[in-house]
Amino acid sequence: MSTFRTIWTTEDRYVEVIDQRKLPHLYETVELKTYRDAEVAIKDMTVRGAPLIGATAAYGIYLAVRELIEKELEGTFLDEAFSALRASRPTAVNLFWALDRMRNALDNCQGNFLDTAWNTANQLVEEDVETCRLIGVHGLPFIEALAEKKKGDVVNILTHCNAGMLGCIEWGTITSPIYQAVQKGIKVHVWVDETRPRNQGSNLTAYELTRHNVPHTLIVDNAGGHLMQHGMVDMVIVGTDRTTRNGDVANKIGTYLKALAANDNNIPLYVALPSTTLDMTIRDGLSEIPIEERNQDEVRYMIGKNSAGAIDSVLICPETTPASNYGFDVTPARLVTKLITERGVCDASEEGLLSLFPEFA
Ligand code: MRU
Repeated sequence: MSTFRTIWTTEDRYVEVIDQRKLPHLYETVELKTYRDAEVAIKDMTVRGAPLIGATAAYGIYLAVRELIEKELEGTFLDEAFSALRASRPTAVNLFWALDRMRNALDNCQGNFLDTAWNTANQLVEEDVETCRLIGVHGLPFIEALAEKKKGDVVNILTHCNAGMLGCIEWGTITSPIYQAVQKGIKVHVWVDETRPRNQGSNLTAYELTRHNVPHTLIVDNAGGHLMQHGMVDMVIVGTDRTTRNGDVANKIGTYLKALAANDNNIPLYVALPSTTLDMTIRDGLSEIPIEERNQDEVRYMIGKNSAGAIDSVLICPETTPASNYGFDVTPARLVTKLITERGVCDASEEGLLSLFPEFA
């Protein structure tokens, strides 16, 4: 289904990504030739979104192995790469999952070290594509049921941040059921939260929905509750950066407020959850998930295209006003209607998760 991917390898076996900081105004790509390039891309949000962060980190390790071999460096170079990539962003657990998977593959490597790194990173990427496709297969019935209930009328879906294909490799998590519904001829319309301060909604979700011809409307982050009170939202679907054993969900800041409003208005809130985003080692999301705090200037300034067509940044508060910039919040399991995973749908609870992922018992 995809019209594009977010990360790919080049003929000379380097890695290329879309520079997501420039979307939707400019489509530019960046080549990653060293693990430091991968680290910077994750840190400065050239790439973002839990699965894509994981994939970039995996390729970062491949690039480190390549540099280690080509320059005949000390083995500690690889440890430095692992440490630097581990420290690149704190909340999305896919980063740590991907790095652990690379470490494990390299530790158990019987043959060629470089081939092992290359193959493992490529495999991880292909698995993410299939995981997202399957999330769509399992999420689609919720949209179909709403369309049937509404006798074929438009199903209105609200989402926050970007958990679309731009946050993954292809399909996306929340967009996979939406794209599959559109492919089946179901009428959908997406309310896109702009998602201040980095505007993943207006910059990225709106961009990819436009490219896939999905009807959508951009709204300010504070509009969702009003729309829900007036029957203009049939379901909410969001992504996740880390989901605990109890089913608590960390996602982009503002998700919790949408969940409260959805709950108050009896609107289902689904979380599209690739199992790579599960953290079964912790239970309580509020106390145990590290919440990223980012530079306050992301709040104090807004970036966009000016009337002369140039990308510009403008200050939106007094010069001296400080800002706080928490990147994520935690939605407690009780506010989540269902988790949609690649293995099926379950309750946001330990029992629910173990019914699909018994290997964590
Ligand atoms: O700060 P970001 O842009 O990396 O945050 C992304 C999100 O919160 C996404 O919704 C989440 O990673 C799920 S991506 C499929």
